Amino acid sequence: MMKPTNFVLFALLSAATTFSAVVVADPEANTDAIEAVKAKAKQRGSRYGTSERSGIVGGVQSRPRDFPYFVDMDFCGGALIAPDIVLFAAHCGTRKGRQIAIGAYETNRLVEGAQERFCEEYIPDPKWGYLDYGLVFDFALCKLNEPVVLSSTVATLVLNEDPSFPSDDPNVITDLIVMGFGLQYDSFGSNTPMEIPENPYLLHNVTVPYMSNEVCRSFPYYEYSIGDSSLCAGFVSGEEDACYGDSGGPIVERTYVGGTGDSKTAYVDTHVGVVSWGIGCARENSPGVYARTSTRVGWIKATACNSLDSVADFCKDVPKPLKPKPAKPAPTAGYSYSYSCDTGQDLTIRLTTDKEAYFTSWVLETANTHETIMARKYKILEYTNEHKICLHKEACYTWEVADEFGDGFLGSYSIILNGKEVAAGTGDFYDRKRESFCTTSVPPNVTPTRSPKKTKSPKVTKSPKK
Ligand code: ARG
Repeated sequence: MMKPTNFVLFALLSAATTFSAVVVADPEANTDAIEAVKAKAKQRGSRYGTSERSGIVGGVQSRPRDFPYFVDMDFCGGALIAPDIVLFAAHCGTRKGRQIAIGAYETNRLVEGAQERFCEEYIPDPKWGYLDYGLVFDFALCKLNEPVVLSSTVATLVLNEDPSFPSDDPNVITDLIVMGFGLQYDSFGSNTPMEIPENPYLLHNVTVPYMSNEVCRSFPYYEYSIGDSSLCAGFVSGEEDACYGDSGGPIVERTYVGGTGDSKTAYVDTHVGVVSWGIGCARENSPGVYARTSTRVGWIKATACNSLDSVADFCKDVPKPLKPKPAKPAPTAGYSYSYSCDTGQDLTIRLTTDKEAYFTSWVLETANTHETIMARKYKILEYTNEHKICLHKEACYTWEVADEFGDGFLGSYSIILNGKEVAAGTGDFYDRKRESFCTTSVPPNVTPTRSPKKTKSPKVTKSPKK
């Protein structure tokens, strides 16, 4: 059962901006500034990692738990900027209903403290779009179905609020770290070496110097493609860069707050940009381009707090909108951290994925009106997922599980209504399989039906009066 994962990867990648044209020196380029950047390249700072050389492109393998806020989101990265908000790139597209992993160290697996969640809502920056060869305001937010509280006090991620940071002064070198599961070499015919990648399933990072927009605009293709909301980083000589699949991930400045290097001490990472685009990867005269966090930090916070009702600490300081928001309709698929079911029609869906979890998804709908109650698409391999949903009384539902590849999956599922299994099966089907069931008029009475081996019993919080 070989599924063409690489084909899917390629299809996604080919949508990205790539050029294989030979780069000719631009006579208009500000050569002094470029020389200054070249000088910076020689003075670059230390690297953060365990091995000498590998990729993102030209990077190193990260240490476990070195980037606890890093989010793995299928050919894109992201950053947890609040317990329930992920900041990533608008061009990654909606991730609504899709599983992601926070604190990811090995892609698609929950190791080294990684936690899975689902994107419940997606809001791209209304200003995002294309500019000549590039992208501008490439920001998007995803609201999680349940907050993640990072246990570690070792790493703190803060959004850069300071428009004059990093400094454009050519004498100031600001080393930035970018991380991701993206390609480790430019596969589109560039001058970068096609090395055999180091374990591509483990998180990589690379340290690259900040470059002012003025210098960045001096390169061919970049002149009219760099907006004020862009931020460039990289060496004139290329060699080290983010690449396809790293989009959305953060580029940060790391400040140690006690100790340095390999001694386990606390650090604060300042989020200065979102991986957005580049002409190829790690090519000469083609720095990586990022969405500049400081230009949209106001929008990011206001949207997180006002549109996505984030629990973020920073929401205390964010002014409330003038008009009160219209009351939300009663939640049918309540976020599970506040899960309680006052209709007494408590549904639990359990599904165990196989080694190709990303082909598996399902939709729960009302049987008559086809209103989507919840939709989920998986990512974490060989993992048992549990979803809790509060349903209406006396209503019928269909649950349809699908395999995008069309050969089912080597896992199983179970649907439990009020403690009683109403459907169960394996992934032994072709492209889809449907289950139907109905709820009853009364909540089951006080004698709780015991599910065989589940310790976490559903909360029977009765709201006083609905
Ligand atoms: N657009 C790419 C993606 O979708 C990321 C590009 C970053 N490229 C670069 N050379 N820094 O993953």
